[in-house]
Amino acid sequence: MTSIREQRGLDVAALRDHFPSLTRTLDGSRVAYLDGPGGTQVPRECIAAMADYLERSNANHGGAFTASVETDALLREVHAAAADFVGAHDPDEIAFGPNMTTLTFAVSRAIGRDLAPGDEIVVTRLDHDANVAPWLALAEDRGLVVRWIELADDGATLNLDSLDSVLGDRTKVVAIGLASNALGTITDVGRAIEAAHAVGALTYVDAVHAAPHMPIDVAALQADLLVCSPYKFFAPHLGMLYGRRDLLERLAAYRVRPAGEELPGKWEVGTQSHESLAGLLGTFRYLETLGAAYGYVAGDDTRRGRLRAAMSAIREHERDLSRGTLERLATVEGLQLHGLSDPDRVDERVPTFSFTVAGHHARPVAQHLADRAISVWDGDFYAWELVRALGLSDIGGLVRIGLVHYNTLDEVDRLVAALGELTA
Ligand SMILES: Cc1ncc(COP(=O)(O)O)c(C=O)c1O
Repeated sequence: MTSIREQRGLDVAALRDHFPSLTRTLDGSRVAYLDGPGGTQVPRECIAAMADYLERSNANHGGAFTASVETDALLREVHAAAADFVGAHDPDEIAFGPNMTTLTFAVSRAIGRDLAPGDEIVVTRLDHDANVAPWLALAEDRGLVVRWIELADDGATLNLDSLDSVLGDRTKVVAIGLASNALGTITDVGRAIEAAHAVGALTYVDAVHAAPHMPIDVAALQADLLVCSPYKFFAPHLGMLYGRRDLLERLAAYRVRPAGEELPGKWEVGTQSHESLAGLLGTFRYLETLGAAYGYVAGDDTRRGRLRAAMSAIREHERDLSRGTLERLATVEGLQLHGLSDPDRVDERVPTFSFTVAGHHARPVAQHLADRAISVWDGDFYAWELVRALGLSDIGGLVRIGLVHYNTLDEVDRLVAALGELTA
């Protein structure tokens, strides 16, 4: 086993072998999956765990019979593993749901039950709308005042210097994202959380875009509530909520009466996608293997330690991917990158890049790439406020490429060559 301190970078070819879909070809070309921010591919471990669950243990939970007992065991284990993934210490602090958006509407509604007209909530211009719209809807329903953390002058980061003027005695919630799904910018949410706590406000952190790229540590962040979406980090379509135990216990969830007050069931309304949760456990096993092989786990050879090591190794590896991609994109004539473009600032971003191409709307660019088996997203990716603030709505928004650890700079070279054909 090699420590990350001795070996720089991951053995990406070996890791790619875990992802069957990465071998797919279209008209003889290998598909380049640069669409990770919309959802990543999954490893064999995930697919096998889902199939195994459906073949052997497919049942509802809470029954006397074997498959149901096995399902209960699966649910306990996946809560514990997810707690390890985000650095929580109590499996009951994790609740699953269909996706982050649904969970955010549910939690915001529950928080709103305690709020009074004139109370204030804070949202940002950089966030995905799933961490904005639910709070705006709540504000409308409860007569709350909405305050915004605006973009800084660079158009790529948030103006956290405004925190003092945005937060006040009546601030009840600060909803903020850890990494931008449009520009890749990482936000210093720790600073926002400290400021929020100083005025007694709760924090709701959207870690959806950060989760595939870096370790998440709710304890270090002191986050009250944090959400992510396993389908963005190599697992099936699911949403996942972390909440401080006392908070999840105190808040009044909208739920059916037999569900009771116990955690985590109180926040998991209806029947969950058990097969997806089995798949998520498979993904965690893949990440543990990665962490054990490439990360530094010596002091903490537990599931938590291995997951942390995996995400640290991925983070380290992706700095090189970011640097290499920025250098390559800078060679494309007519391409304007929106976001941090300095290769020396890769610590402040994840490898997600959005751009416009002079004289071209976003969709035809994405189509040109799709025709060459390169999958990318175009539009606003629900970073609705940002794309409006950048004045790009009228040209179809942005073209976005998102790399994760299984992507390669060879794929970026293919992208750059294909863009070159457009701009030649
Ligand atoms: C940063 C961010 N937040 C929230 C969401 C919404 O997640 P979900 O599809 O799980 O509702 C997304 C999805 O693209 C996202 O990228």
